[in-house]
Amino acid sequence: MKIYLPLDSAAVALGADEIAESLMFQAKARGVNLTLVRNGSHGMVWLEPMAEIVTDAGRMAFGPLTLSDVPALFGDLASHPKALGKTEDLPWLKAQTRLTFARVGVIDPLSLDDYKAHGGLAGLTLALGMDKAGIVAEVTNSGLRGRGGAGFPTGIKWKTVSEAVADRKYIVCNADEGDSATFADRMLMEGDPFTLIEGMIIAGLATGATKGFVYIRSEYPIAIEVMQKAVKIATDAGVLGASVLGSANAFNIEIRVGAGAYVCGEETSLLNSLEGKRGVVRAKPPLPALQGFMAKPTVVNNVISLASVPVIFEKGAAFYKDFGLGRSRGTIPLQIAGNVKHGGLFEIAFGLTLGEIVDKIAGGSASGRPVKAVQVGGPLGAYFPRALFDTPFGYEEFAGKDGLIGHAGLTVFDDSADMLKQARFAMEFCAIESCGKCTPCRIGAVRGVETVDRIAKGDASAIPLLTDLCNTMKSGSLCALGGFTPYPVMSALTHFPDDFAPMKEAAE
Ligand code: NAI
Ligand code: SF4
Repeated sequence: MKIYLPLDSAAVALGADEIAESLMFQAKARGVNLTLVRNGSHGMVWLEPMAEIVTDAGRMAFGPLTLSDVPALFGDLASHPKALGKTEDLPWLKAQTRLTFARVGVIDPLSLDDYKAHGGLAGLTLALGMDKAGIVAEVTNSGLRGRGGAGFPTGIKWKTVSEAVADRKYIVCNADEGDSATFADRMLMEGDPFTLIEGMIIAGLATGATKGFVYIRSEYPIAIEVMQKAVKIATDAGVLGASVLGSANAFNIEIRVGAGAYVCGEETSLLNSLEGKRGVVRAKPPLPALQGFMAKPTVVNNVISLASVPVIFEKGAAFYKDFGLGRSRGTIPLQIAGNVKHGGLFEIAFGLTLGEIVDKIAGGSASGRPVKAVQVGGPLGAYFPRALFDTPFGYEEFAGKDGLIGHAGLTVFDDSADMLKQARFAMEFCAIESCGKCTPCRIGAVRGVETVDRIAKGDASAIPLLTDLCNTMKSGSLCALGGFTPYPVMSALTHFPDDFAPMKEAAE
């Protein structure tokens, strides 16, 4: 008997380890020879812990499991109360276009054979037959843009590093996924670590870098463990090392663990942390592409940017570019969270409207109350009201409505949310997480909290002050933390003015 059960952090938080223990116990008690594979999650968080039993008809899903559901998994499966049918037929999965996440939830994350059997290393093998310029051109032609949030064209970044002259170059993978409602990096590392490794090696081939770092936030212990094991397996198998897949190219990867600062997700702060220094933002220029880790040319890419590269080589740049809309090409792993019926990871081509994502995919609010706002792009993202739900999911489309898609995390709020409190939270978050290097952010965020509090107490004169403060932070901050905090604040003020009505509290 073979059962797949996620090792994914969300599944574990919902009891997957206890289910695993119970499965082994029950199997032993029944004399059943059970192979339990701990894999990545398919991303349907409301069904976790979800086990899949391999049958002649395919993988059958069961969830969300509690301990009392386990014994019946050894009986008549068709009548199991948590039977969901064939995994591949589940509507959430069928509606997706899984390119980057194609193997997550499917394979054993630490089996290189399984990885290869599902298309793994095909992209790298092709890239090994190309020269640096050819590899860079393929990535440029795919239209891939930085999935960490900024959306900078990955091919152009690689070209800058590739053409820089230096004795050493580096590939740094930013896995310091700190945005609220984002978990794509984690799920990818936990569910398909070799894809990230493969993407980093291709980045190395494109630029001449022979060393890579994966900087993972300390809050991701399972991802850290899986990545460490995967790097060892890849090294032992000759995928990493002095001779990548028997070629003349060398590439090694080291896993580094962050210490828990949100600002270390900002690339220059991350580089300082990686060098053993305090995680303070550096002024740009110089760009990391020219002077990054140890002042050497460095590609700093998000996990999803790098993990999207293998499929681009495997299937071709034209195939990848064919998905999407406008200048947002390919697919995007949406991370849906907050007050929703169905939360989780949903990979789809750019272009769905926000309304389709919230109402159709997520199924509306979990509370059953009307959806009031969606914050897109993490704690620095704007709050979108229902009036903007026709906005298509794309970089320019969201920027055109004074928002950002960021790392594609969506937090949904019902009509009980108080947007003034959310604006206050944004300023408070910035005040706590500020690295302190520049004044608009360090001082501005603290004054921002005070100003929102004045509005809450009925001081109407504080509203223009808050707008002024946001403009100063937006134009005067050194990095996105201070510079983007005005997005949630101003969007809350603009789209939900009733929540800021100075006399609101007095009236109540
Ligand atoms: P940015 O726009 O300054 O830079 C984007 C990237 O392009 C950087 O790597 C930069 O070095 C590179 N770049 C720019 N010009 C270049 C050139 N000519 N050649 C080569 N490379 C070049 O944006 P930044 O500050 O790196 O990121 C801001 C974004 O981060 C925000 O949009 C926000 O959504 C996102 N973010 C994501 C978080 C997460 O958890 N994933 C957390 C916080 C913010
Ligand atoms: Fe540091 Fe904030 Fe300035 Fe960024 S905006 S450099 S986090 S003080």
